[in-house]
Amino acid sequence: MSALKKQLHVYLFEMNCVSHIIHGLWVHPTNHRHRFNELSYWTELAQLLEHGTFDGVFLADVIGTYDGFRESADAALREGVQIPSNDPLLVIPAMAAVTRNLGFGATFSTTYEPPFAFARRASTLDHLTNGRFAWNIVTSYLPNAARNFGLEGEVPHDDRYVIADEYLDVLYKLWEGSWDDDAVIQDRERRVYTDPTKVRYINHVGPQFKVAGPHLCQPSRQRTPVLYQATGSHAGKEFAARHAEAVFTGGMNAQAVRANIADMRARAMRHGRKATDIKFISGAGIITGKTDADVAKKYEEYRRLISVEGRLAHSMSRIDYTKYPRAERLADIIARKDPGYDQIGPRFKPEQTIGEVLDQLGGINYGRYFVAGTPNVVADAIEKWLDEDDLDGINLVQYHSYDTARDFIEYVVPELRRRGRFREAYNQGETLRERFFGAGHSRLPDYHYGARYRDPAKLKEPFRPLSVPAPETVGELSMHEQRERGTSSASPQIPPRTNPPAIPTAPSARAGGASQTAVTAA
Ligand SMILES: Cc1cc2nc3c(=O)[nH]c(=O)nc-3n(C[C@H](O)[C@H](O)[C@H](O)COP(=O)(O)O)c2cc1C
Repeated sequence: MSALKKQLHVYLFEMNCVSHIIHGLWVHPTNHRHRFNELSYWTELAQLLEHGTFDGVFLADVIGTYDGFRESADAALREGVQIPSNDPLLVIPAMAAVTRNLGFGATFSTTYEPPFAFARRASTLDHLTNGRFAWNIVTSYLPNAARNFGLEGEVPHDDRYVIADEYLDVLYKLWEGSWDDDAVIQDRERRVYTDPTKVRYINHVGPQFKVAGPHLCQPSRQRTPVLYQATGSHAGKEFAARHAEAVFTGGMNAQAVRANIADMRARAMRHGRKATDIKFISGAGIITGKTDADVAKKYEEYRRLISVEGRLAHSMSRIDYTKYPRAERLADIIARKDPGYDQIGPRFKPEQTIGEVLDQLGGINYGRYFVAGTPNVVADAIEKWLDEDDLDGINLVQYHSYDTARDFIEYVVPELRRRGRFREAYNQGETLRERFFGAGHSRLPDYHYGARYRDPAKLKEPFRPLSVPAPETVGELSMHEQRERGTSSASPQIPPRTNPPAIPTAPSARAGGASQTAVTAA
């Protein structure tokens, strides 16, 4: 066992709902997913994951519903696709109470609610978990989410990152700059709880937000929670280069993933950070068991239950593949320009038949980051992901709760440990940031953008928005961006904001951007 081998970080990918990402499997007779409303679902899960020395549990979230498929929410509701869903933050204290080391990542959007209240919730969670909290920064992609917060439609893609950047600026001021470490003195003799000279207003005034402070919470162990983000777009990667400490990434092959990771590391360095300051995590599907026969049985059991309609609802597909005969070819649909034909993306080829598309949608294979096999086979694949793709970890997608996690713990963890690829035990009492970056790294590094506000003088300086350079090539734009911009002929700059601040002050304060399609599964 070599100490130089990269060890795997593992989170369990969760959501406070019945059907998060693999749809249809909640009906499996022994699946516990329908128990997500019960506190005991979460406490049992947390104890199981801590027993397996997982890095943490990672909670996705959306604040709207998937109502694009067949122009209604019916399919999402029938299939339980992320609705009903509960608040991800509120189950964390319960899980923290029954564990000592497990980490907790939770998703919260920067687009619709102003930052002050979230700063407080996050600090509270970092206190209650004793420094085990991470935040997945999302800007929200559902048109329905915009309509839930008083807008007519979505804020355009790149503008969402402009808002997010200022949102983060406010948070850093509150988390890093508003209170000194020694502000709370708890001096009973002198009857002084907090030394007022060590707490300050932040008085942030920017294009989007005006926040006075002071922060209402005293400094927590990490102050700023570990900052996660998922992105593939140019604007999103620039945002990650300034802010993120862990990025969800993916791709069809090792070469594509490596290139993507190298690109993000280079961008981070341009922001004065180290290449290794960002960890890269991918969603991964793993089906394992003691023997090949066990694995095959589980694979078939899960595959049989996968819901194509759930998948179409989740992807907000404007094309209803289920209504065509199986022999029909996509090329015919494209030639006729049937509604939604322009959405037939890179996943499918024009020469494919509807039958092939439906089989693909009903499949279980997660691409490069899917493996079904005995522990040796799974560990071989994981070693490749770590060494060939340059990944740091995985977000384990669940087919079955709790069997997916249980199987990983029972079969894969011992094999990874044998190979020196997974921790034998937790470093007791470490913060979640230390788990990624080593002992003594509980806080953001001094050279991270957010750390600048530890200097009170910096709080008085005007907000410095992230400047996003024009992408060098169209290839730097995600498919999603290229579609929005009409490929290379559109301006590569962030569009000038013609509307007032994105804070939803009044219904219809802003006209919506072009309605986007949720291409990435939350
Ligand atoms: C693994 C993973 C998890 C995600 N989780 C969420 C989520 O919980 N909520 C959400 O609104 N978006 C989620 N997203 C979507 C991202 O926040 C983001 O919208 C997407 O990656 C596209 O970003 P881009 O437009 O910058 O490329 C997730 C994406 C990935 C890849």
